[in-house]
Amino acid sequence: MSEVHVLDHPLIADKLTHMRRADTTSQDFRMLLHEISLLMGFEITRDFETVPATIETPICMGNFPVLKEHFFTIVPILRAGIGMVDGLLELMPYAHVGHIGLFRDEKTKEPVEYYFKMPKGVENSIIIVVDPMLATGGSAADAVDSLKKRGCTNIRLMNLVAAPEGIALMQERHPDVDIYVAAVDEKLNKDAYIVPGLGDAGDRIFRTK
Ligand code: PRP
Ligand code: URA
Repeated sequence: MSEVHVLDHPLIADKLTHMRRADTTSQDFRMLLHEISLLMGFEITRDFETVPATIETPICMGNFPVLKEHFFTIVPILRAGIGMVDGLLELMPYAHVGHIGLFRDEKTKEPVEYYFKMPKGVENSIIIVVDPMLATGGSAADAVDSLKKRGCTNIRLMNLVAAPEGIALMQERHPDVDIYVAAVDEKLNKDAYIVPGLGDAGDRIFRTK
């Protein structure tokens, strides 16, 4: 069974509350999502391995930790996942970025894939899939399916807000993928929106409504 890490840090919680407010502007929404992604990135990378490197400081030689691995791939689920990429890139400027385009069919709520582009050799990298919303979980689970079909094995998922239904589906279909979230909300409504949630993340980021 995968682990669910709820990153309930006070700074993250405060920023998320501002994002939930219906009167928060797109400009502020994007800025807060960026900031939270950076803060969450700190935790999602906590288990990255280091190895000792011998270096010379201005004073003496010494052994100090450096990252063992530098091949990381951030994979936003389009569209809303794009809003979480730059925060992680600030922490890991050497990371690669792959894209998966998925939208939920308005009637069935089932995800439909329309784009898949990964960096060369992605199967050998540590992958962080990002999407602000984990609602039914269908989009994230399908995204991970597509990555696994490409041979990827080291995958973790980062969401801002999750519904219990989405977590359950991910754990059922991908028990090897740990989930990092800022908050787990109460439920889904009849339109499969997260309650209380923050509305449609893509529309709020890109001002499409
Ligand atoms: C939203 C969100 C997730 C998905 C979550 O995207 O960004 O990708 O819904 O829902 P699920 O867990 O029930 O699959 P949407 O399909 O609205 O596409 P968009 O980002 O292009 O607006
Ligand atoms: N997608 C969103 O953007 N918000 C939700 O609450 C559910 C799916």
